[in-house]
Amino acid sequence: MGVAIPQSFSEKYPKQRMTKKTIRAADALLEAQKIAFAPFIFQSSVTLKKLRVFDLIFESRDQGGITISDISEKLGISRYGLGVLLEFSESADIVTKSENGAYELTKIGYFLNYNKTVNVNLNFTHDVCYKGLFHLDEAIATGKPSGLKELGQWDTIYEGLSQLTPKEQQSWFEFDHYYSDGVFEEALKRVFKNQPKLLFDIGGNTGKFALQCFNYDENIQVKIIDLLGQLNKALKNIGDAGFEERVSGQEINWLKPNPKIPAGADVIWMSQFLDCFSEDEILKILSTCVASMNAQTELIIIETFTDRQEYPMSKFILEATSLYFTVMANGNSKMYPSTVFKDLIIEAGLIISEDLKLGEYHTMLVCKKK
Ligand SMILES: C[S@@+](CC[C@H](N)C(=O)[O-])C[C@H]1O[C@@H](n2cnc3c(N)ncnc32)[C@H](O)[C@@H]1O
Repeated sequence: MGVAIPQSFSEKYPKQRMTKKTIRAADALLEAQKIAFAPFIFQSSVTLKKLRVFDLIFESRDQGGITISDISEKLGISRYGLGVLLEFSESADIVTKSENGAYELTKIGYFLNYNKTVNVNLNFTHDVCYKGLFHLDEAIATGKPSGLKELGQWDTIYEGLSQLTPKEQQSWFEFDHYYSDGVFEEALKRVFKNQPKLLFDIGGNTGKFALQCFNYDENIQVKIIDLLGQLNKALKNIGDAGFEERVSGQEINWLKPNPKIPAGADVIWMSQFLDCFSEDEILKILSTCVASMNAQTELIIIETFTDRQEYPMSKFILEATSLYFTVMANGNSKMYPSTVFKDLIIEAGLIISEDLKLGEYHTMLVCKKK
């Protein structure tokens, strides 16, 4: 059977199927080229940061910028090297060049070099995800974190956390802590509202939250529940801080059949933990917790939900993080909308007694047994 070939542009791309945002074709093509060369923009920026070129350019702003010759002399980098890096950086709107050849940072360049969130994300992308992302198509096809082999031979990144190189660990932990540490202090008031005596920190990681609990309340006991590598790390950090009397630990791998946790917790705390699992796994974890809870136990979940973000930038970061889960972490989890969590919480036999906003990006769900 013959297929009619549309002649005109509007026939070929009917209006209702085009994006509603208006953008000139030339601008759209440039944006598409920026994606085509995105790794070039990324790696040249990382290099200019590493070589301290961005710092020097910023420090020279009061003199109206700095030329390639002066940068070359001050930093001992070839004029050729600086030429290729800065030429491209100018086209990528990261630096500007004046008529006399002096470079200055644009606003984008300033944020790229000095904004804390951008830097945490950039180091995480570079040191943890960059090589692995090459295997994204395979990860989507198999449901496995196919990029993880670039870091080591584990089923999930969590099993390998304690064995990553120091640089990889630094970037991973800075990324992880950056998105949770900020809300711990605010959360403590609610966590201690009913004077809990025993708190289970599920996915306690490096023991940072447990340490804040010990400093906040002199009676609290904490049980860290995590994979062995992280558990040992958390217990060591807590011991070093002098709280070994008040901490205990249980090794667990939630992906193994029939995981169990003991009864007796007044609070079960899960911060940025459930997003490391698929929906079926989350249901299994929550149901296991429900079996250990009594009518008074509070299960507290902290997450950054995609449907609770005010700023487009936050949504963008969370969606990128989902791809990290896909290709590097486990192959089957993501940053979820709150609606998905609410359904899973109810299905597991819990009710949400409080739904609270924490800081600008986080949500705290306080759950009780139904
Ligand atoms: C993203 S970190 C969250 C750490 C911390 N709660 C926070 O708020 O920063 C996830 C934690 O879950 C643990 N975890 C991941 N997969 C696990 C598994 N299969 N079994 C047990 N713990 C796991 C990791 O070891 C890590 O400590």
